[in-house]
Amino acid sequence: MNYKSLVKGCGSYLPERLVTNEQLAQWVDTSDDWIVSRTGIKQRYIAAEGELTSDLAIMAARRALKHSKIEARELDLLILATTTPDATFPATATKVQSELGMTSGAAFDVQAVCSGFVYGLAIADNFIKAGQAKTVLVIGAETFSRILDWKDRSTCVLFGDGAGAIVMQATNRTNIMEEAHKERGVISTHLHSDGATNDLLYVDGGPSSTQTTGYVRMIGREVFRHAVNNLAEVVDETLSYNALTSDALDWIVPHQANRRILDSTARKIGIPEDKIVITVENHANTSAASIPLALDEAVRDGRIKKGNLILMEAMGGGLTWGSALVRW
Ligand code: ACO
Repeated sequence: MNYKSLVKGCGSYLPERLVTNEQLAQWVDTSDDWIVSRTGIKQRYIAAEGELTSDLAIMAARRALKHSKIEARELDLLILATTTPDATFPATATKVQSELGMTSGAAFDVQAVCSGFVYGLAIADNFIKAGQAKTVLVIGAETFSRILDWKDRSTCVLFGDGAGAIVMQATNRTNIMEEAHKERGVISTHLHSDGATNDLLYVDGGPSSTQTTGYVRMIGREVFRHAVNNLAEVVDETLSYNALTSDALDWIVPHQANRRILDSTARKIGIPEDKIVITVENHANTSAASIPLALDEAVRDGRIKKGNLILMEAMGGGLTWGSALVRW
């Protein structure tokens, strides 16, 4: 394979409406204290009435294209990771494609819940390595607020809406395999799923079962346990696949589910907190959007710099989980 994928740039978008824990506690039987102590979350953004996943995706995509200095017409693949599509079909990606003015190539949605962005990035990387795509937009966008049961305090306090995107482009591979991690671009991706754990985190509806959209249901403690174990394992797998130790990493950009999962995973893999990009307190869990939202924040505030070695990791419903190692 002669190609590898360079990440050209990123962008993100949050809806205008900010809801703090105190505001949430006015209509849900909860408190700022409970939410902060169990999750680290202080606030979340909620899409306005009529504001769709595609609207958030388009805003994030435009910003990512601008940051990358790439025109929409140069794209030949658009992958949108989402669990909250505008409709059952067509793919929300096709709507975004048309709004952006991308006139050729293909666009499709990927469904891996909170792991969706890592799945999308891995698919894009493989298309590029196979020579089937040259310039790819990967978006994670969610309006999770639409599938929350606002009467279920154990789930509705945890999530928020938002979108983030990156642009990836094919570049010629010049380095020998053993030195691959020194070159800028995607170094490796690692994906997993285990359908035997479907019932730990799911939506209790769908087109072929109830003909309704359904609401998020979760066995929180079990999800917590699996998250810490699966994430620690996939970080180890990524490092050993590349013959690296955690010292080599400049940043970890994890899926932002909850502060306690982030802290427990960091302890388990022995990575200091100051190498972890954390945005969960401000965004809550935005599912497939959380990694590109965190990435974009850290790129824009100057923490992530060109040439940094970045490990992204996520786990979500399925259960699905995975990682991507990228030299920025
Ligand atoms: N406000 C106040 N009290 C609450 C709330 C709330 N929002 N939610 C639950 N409680 C109460 C419960 O009713 C219960 O009360 P009781 O003891 O009187 O029965 C008490 O708090 C403890 O409830 P638990 O569910 O046992 O609380 P736990 O300590 O397990 O924390 C939590 C719940 C935060 C959901 C935890 O299990 C967790 O973090 N799980 C991970 C889930 C997650 O992050 N999922 C996101 C999707 S997956 C991913 O993205 C990786």
